[in-house]
Amino acid sequence: MSDDVSHETSAADAGADEQSTVNTRRRYFLIGATSAVAGVGIVGAAIPFLSYWSPSAKARALGAPVKIDFSKLAPGEMLSPIQAWRGKPIFLVYRDPETVASLEEQPHDLAHPDSENPEMQPNFAKNPTRSSRPEIGIYVGICTHLGCSPKFVEVDNFEDTGQGGFFCPCHGSKFDLAGRVGRGYPAPDNLPVPPYRFESDTVVVIGEEEGAA
Ligand code: FES
Repeated sequence: MSDDVSHETSAADAGADEQSTVNTRRRYFLIGATSAVAGVGIVGAAIPFLSYWSPSAKARALGAPVKIDFSKLAPGEMLSPIQAWRGKPIFLVYRDPETVASLEEQPHDLAHPDSENPEMQPNFAKNPTRSSRPEIGIYVGICTHLGCSPKFVEVDNFEDTGQGGFFCPCHGSKFDLAGRVGRGYPAPDNLPVPPYRFESDTVVVIGEEEGAA
């Protein structure tokens, strides 16, 4: 082998070594970057897992009070996604002044307009709007016939007045926006009102009664 060839080979080896070092550094960098990303992913995945299994989640399932923030809700809307308390859907509707006035006038033929069954609402909700605050209606969203979950109907639940309400698709029961069932439908009673109290203008605690210690 000539000196020239030997010199060229050494230069090539040096180049290969340098390239190898660069590749190794690059590999370490990629491994480090991947680990960092994986770390973020694990933390991200761990948070919902931990929160799902946190004591408060278990307590809620057993019936602990549930706090609901409805600050984003506008008049005429029902809170979505629907929150649960004791495993039951909670309907929270924000009624506009016209709806409140209409509920007080009772324009529909209702089976229990005066909410005479004390098991269906706390005392504070034994009124035309079946609520503590006239504009905010809070009901357990389970039909009193066979337990389906009624749907929120913004308008025309009652064709004669155009008023919205709740419609149970299972056997056709209709409720007004105070959860009162219309006369002649299969549901035997109004939608239940859960115990609740307002913690602020836009936060309500379901499961703790208004005025209770
Ligand atoms: S379950 Fe609602 S009408 Fe039958």
